[in-house]
Amino acid sequence: MTGRYDVIVLGAGAAGMMCAIRAGQRGRSVLVLDHAAAPGEKIRISGGGRCNFTNIHAGPKNFLSANPHFAKSALARFTPADFLAMVERHGIGWHEKTLGQLFCDDSAKDIIRMLTDEMRVAGAQLRLRTEISGIEQKAGGYRVSTSEGAFEASSLVVATGGKSIPKMGATGFAYRIAEQFGVPVVETRPGLVPLTLDPQLLQRLAPLSGIAAPAEIRHGKTAFREALLFTHRGLSGPAILQISSYWREGEDITVAIEPDIDIFALLKKAKQVNGRQSAQTALAEILPKRLAQHIVESEGISGNMADLSDKRLQQLAASIQSWPVKPSGSEGYRTAEVTLGGIDTACLDSRTMQAKTNPGLFFIGECVDVTGWLGGYNFQWAWASGHVAGEAA
Ligand code: FDA
Repeated sequence: MTGRYDVIVLGAGAAGMMCAIRAGQRGRSVLVLDHAAAPGEKIRISGGGRCNFTNIHAGPKNFLSANPHFAKSALARFTPADFLAMVERHGIGWHEKTLGQLFCDDSAKDIIRMLTDEMRVAGAQLRLRTEISGIEQKAGGYRVSTSEGAFEASSLVVATGGKSIPKMGATGFAYRIAEQFGVPVVETRPGLVPLTLDPQLLQRLAPLSGIAAPAEIRHGKTAFREALLFTHRGLSGPAILQISSYWREGEDITVAIEPDIDIFALLKKAKQVNGRQSAQTALAEILPKRLAQHIVESEGISGNMADLSDKRLQQLAASIQSWPVKPSGSEGYRTAEVTLGGIDTACLDSRTMQAKTNPGLFFIGECVDVTGWLGGYNFQWAWASGHVAGEAA
């Protein structure tokens, strides 16, 4: 089989479907190809099954890229309010969870249904279980060879995502296409990923596995205040996932547990009020019991608070609120929510996502060197970059 279209989109994920909708609405004939058995598989598992589909505060400052200005144009032209309007038009219930993060009330599948319905109305065709074996540039466009035959189009949009979660079919295919067409790729690495600890430290922290606490995690000038989770592999929770995108192998992070509480003042007061209580009892007022126990034991503290000098209390507070940790690594693409780096934005037109050197070739979504924080920002980038490419392809 062969077929000729105006636009072929590779990848029926968040970015690819949004692009297909916009291009179809403009009257372009659109074919979307995907090797998976269902569209939007990452949408389905996102946000614990409820899809954190955008963040009302999303702006360029929430993204990492070699060029922090690149995302501005697309983010301004398709905003969280634009996506929310589509969600509301489809009668999908939603709520704000925290920090501007918007989630479906019921299921992430509502978002997939909305996107596939919109594609159908826009006349975009979707072909699943289609393996792509080759791409050629031809006069007037591109030819895509697949397990289902060859298809041609004047515009080819690459929306095949990054390398995260290979078990779900992530292949890094976009980077190979970029290489084929001489488009440079910024070094890729896992982002929004749990950090691991060396075996010695891990053994010491083993009793804490499963404990969560509010924390501020700092790396250089960057800091995030969200939950920290101790795991049997190391450290996780939103605060760690956020900082992981900034951290590099061999570097330290600084952990402050309960950053809104002045722990030294709290300990001093507890000593004044009841000198006969232990530091562990005083700490257990604000920390999980097991964590309080672990901290006093690691600091070698026992006995009554009355016997502890202010200096000792200060040291104890510092061990909780300025704890330097050197992660040994990360859990890698196996569990990373996103891929940092990707198609070099210097080679893309920020208004259209078109490759400057290859007319008709577009890259959108996660494969581009634009990576959002945790909290709905990555989907907002997928919608925005997909939309602007759909306006131009
Ligand atoms: P995406 O990966 O969604 O789509 C790529 C598509 O291309 C897939 O359908 C794939 O099958 C297809 N494909 C890949 N290789 C191919 C090939 N060789 N041939 C044919 N097809 C191919 N973000 C957020 O904002 N809020 C959230 O709640 C979450 N939650 C979340 C949870 C988990 C567990 C993960 C792993 C990730 C998230 N994310 C998230 C991140 C978010 O899922 C991600 O940023 C977007 O899905 C990226 O959209 P894309 O369309 O670029 O790629």
